Amino acid sequence: MSSAVADFGLIGLAVMGQNLILNINDHGFKVCAFNRTVAKVDDFLENEAKGTEVIGAHSIIEFVSSLKRPRKIMLLVKAGAAVDDFIETLLPHLEEGDIIIDGGNSHYPDTQRRYEYLTSKKILFVGCGVSGGEEGARYGPSLMPGGNPEAWPHLKPIFQAIAAKAPDGAPCCDWVGEGGAGHFVKMVHNGIEYGDMQLISEVYHIFRNGVGFTDDEQSDIFAQWNKGVLDSFLIEISTDILRFKDADGQPLLEKIRDAAGQKGTGKWTAIAALDYGMPVTLIGEAVFARCLSSIKDERVRASKILSGPTNNKYTGDKAQLVKDLEQAMYASKIISYAQGFILMREVSHQFNWNLNYGSIALMWRGGCIIRSAFLGDIKNAFDKNKSLECLLFDPFFQQATTTAQSGWRNAISTATLIGIPIPALSTALSFYDGYRTARLPANMLQAQRDYFGAHTYELEDKPGNFVHTNWTGRGGNVHASNYDA
Ligand SMILES: *[C@@H]1O[C@H](CO)[C@@H](O)[C@H](O)[C@H]1NC(C)=O
Ligand SMILES: *[C@@H]1O[C@H](CO)[C@@H](O)[C@H](O)[C@H]1NC(C)=O
Ligand SMILES: *[C@@H]1O[C@H](CO)[C@@H](O)[C@H](O)[C@H]1NC(C)=O
Repeated sequence: MSSAVADFGLIGLAVMGQNLILNINDHGFKVCAFNRTVAKVDDFLENEAKGTEVIGAHSIIEFVSSLKRPRKIMLLVKAGAAVDDFIETLLPHLEEGDIIIDGGNSHYPDTQRRYEYLTSKKILFVGCGVSGGEEGARYGPSLMPGGNPEAWPHLKPIFQAIAAKAPDGAPCCDWVGEGGAGHFVKMVHNGIEYGDMQLISEVYHIFRNGVGFTDDEQSDIFAQWNKGVLDSFLIEISTDILRFKDADGQPLLEKIRDAAGQKGTGKWTAIAALDYGMPVTLIGEAVFARCLSSIKDERVRASKILSGPTNNKYTGDKAQLVKDLEQAMYASKIISYAQGFILMREVSHQFNWNLNYGSIALMWRGGCIIRSAFLGDIKNAFDKNKSLECLLFDPFFQQATTTAQSGWRNAISTATLIGIPIPALSTALSFYDGYRTARLPANMLQAQRDYFGAHTYELEDKPGNFVHTNWTGRGGNVHASNYDA
């Protein structure tokens, strides 16, 4: 092959790569495939890609020369060194303005670093979050591209064609922002997914242990909720899961060991929140809830010696509790997304990414795990006000939390009184109460810090002016260097 005929090049023929190639091909673009193990290329062309327009290359040189300029090359290889290796392998063969897209699960600081490096080489780098799993890759993923904005006009027709479509037909793909923004936003998406899953699990726990609903009864409730404000993919699959029977006719869910795994993106989100000092408490609690679940043997031992409340069953009006929990889950979700957007706002500001908040909500409306009707309301909020500081400042969400409030508080006190753990539901309410409090008790923290460590404090009427008080006046001589808290 000597002429440049392909619109798009893709390296890495694991399932995600293969499915994306077939998806791009379906939309009328010619794709060239490459894999380091060259036999994989032929294997793919003779099987999955048989009868399509897809072509393959047997060397990097052949691959690069098959691509029309500016070349558009997507890497779908293992995150980490493999991405850097391929970038180095490609570089000598590329020309100014060519585009490299990393569609893998890279951590955003790596994407930011590669973006800066490739910008210095005059190559347009894009880190693209891809959500929706293998099925999504094949028939419509949610795509979150960020990096060098000059690349976007070249990618837009392909990416928006292959992306999932929201119920109103809008593609679940738009430009996210600069630098490492694409992978960062994908990471926050995954963190929010942890939160949504934890909220559903907590409600399930209250229904099962507190109320005594059967799995089928719960499935009915979730199916009902899926027609209202909680309409979402995760509620939908939970409805199916609750109804699913094992071969013996019993609910399979009840046979599954209650020790959750994790791959780390939720943890990354929580770490970013800590690094940037943003109160993303619900995702943090969702990560810790998985950690607590995974020390199963220790919990089993503790369950035999630690006591809870004598009354651990809900005896009130069940229909009312169902209503309250629906409100509690909705309000907590609003808080979780508000927190996620606060984190994105802060990090975007630090890196000058110019995040496009409305389109982020739009991208999450279809194709990905957290897709929901509710994201349409978030999109509307940012459409109405591009400089919205926090979702809770939007009149719609302000009203929604106000309306949900009494059910939310009732549900949380009920769970607390009967001893059912609700880390995500309750942290959401604590955040809400803290966020709407003009004067928090942090003056006490400041006084303590100054007392034991001479860390100084500001007076309410003189912000910015740091002073120290000799609290003991008795000759106690405490230096800041002795303590650090
Ligand atoms: C090659 O394909 C295999 C799957 O067949 C995949 O696991 C691997 O990541 C690909 N590697 C590269 C570097 O293309
Ligand atoms: C948009 O949001 C900002 C920050 O939350 C606020 O100061 C401003 O008043 C809002 N603008 C409108 C038109 O509501
Ligand atoms: C605090 O006040 C006492 C008594 O006036 C004095 O002896 C001491 O040196 C002061 N300590 C500091 C850290 O200024």
